[in-house]
Amino acid sequence: MAVHTHLGASLDKKGSVVSNAGGLDTIPFVNLDNLHGVSAEELYQRALQMQKNNCLTHGELSQVASALLQVQEVLDKGNQGKFVVRQARLSDLDALCNMVNYWAQQGENLPRSREDITRNILTFAVCVKDHEVLGCACLYVYDTGLAEIRSLGVNPLVQRQGQGRALVDFLVHRAWQFEIKKVFVLTRNPEFFAKVGFSKTTIEALPEKIRKDCEHCPKFDRCDEVAYEVNLPEKLEPKA
Ligand SMILES: CC(C)(COP(=O)(O)OP(=O)(O)OC[C@H]1O[C@@H](n2cnc3c(N)ncnc32)[C@H](O)[C@@H]1OP(=O)(O)O)[C@@H](O)C(=O)NCCC(=O)NCCS
Repeated sequence: MAVHTHLGASLDKKGSVVSNAGGLDTIPFVNLDNLHGVSAEELYQRALQMQKNNCLTHGELSQVASALLQVQEVLDKGNQGKFVVRQARLSDLDALCNMVNYWAQQGENLPRSREDITRNILTFAVCVKDHEVLGCACLYVYDTGLAEIRSLGVNPLVQRQGQGRALVDFLVHRAWQFEIKKVFVLTRNPEFFAKVGFSKTTIEALPEKIRKDCEHCPKFDRCDEVAYEVNLPEKLEPKA
């Protein structure tokens, strides 16, 4: 099915322009397949690198930056009053520590020290509304290339409004961008993970987890968590 943009162009499901009835003169054809899985930050870094290699002028780099900022402005406007999920920053640290350790005290997650969270800040995503962190989660990558969602928690006052799903979707998408083949989770909340697209598996099928944490866990013989996983499709390479 094609999605019609208000610019007069038509995008198919993958974002390719399939027609441009309204504005041939003014609207450039952009094959968005080339942008599959590329973030605005990556686009800017690419442009910056090209400028350093003298392939772009300062002026062209400014054009790229201002276009990206305009996109951000439009999206921010559309997002006013709604939550967004983004990469965590060091300024989120207090909120992250509070959230992770609140859910650890409830027995839902493992406790983590401030040092541990700081060292792993790049692995965390946060869900934010009006500058307030409402939830968090992180993606832990094992040396075999599988990844686990950890430290997932949403403020108990705002649950069941989509934040948990948005955090999981964000990290699963990030895993896919990193060409990770499978994401798993150990949880006491299987209904939620079934709702967000994970399937039941067994802890024994996840030897990474057993080696890393389970062998040292006091509940090793009476584990009350269940394993859920999602297999990710091959990453589409942008067309040359
Ligand atoms: C699990 C948790 C992150 C879910 O966050 P949330 O923001 O409330 O979840 P969402 O609103 O995104 O829910 C997505 C879907 O799952 C459903 N869902 C959420 N929690 C559920 C639960 N406990 N039981 C059944 N369904 C649940 C929602 O109803 C929604 O379904 P829908 O798409 O049909 O409307 C949150 O409850 C939490 O922080 N729990 C405590 C910590 C925890 O258990 N972390 C997981 C450790 S692995």
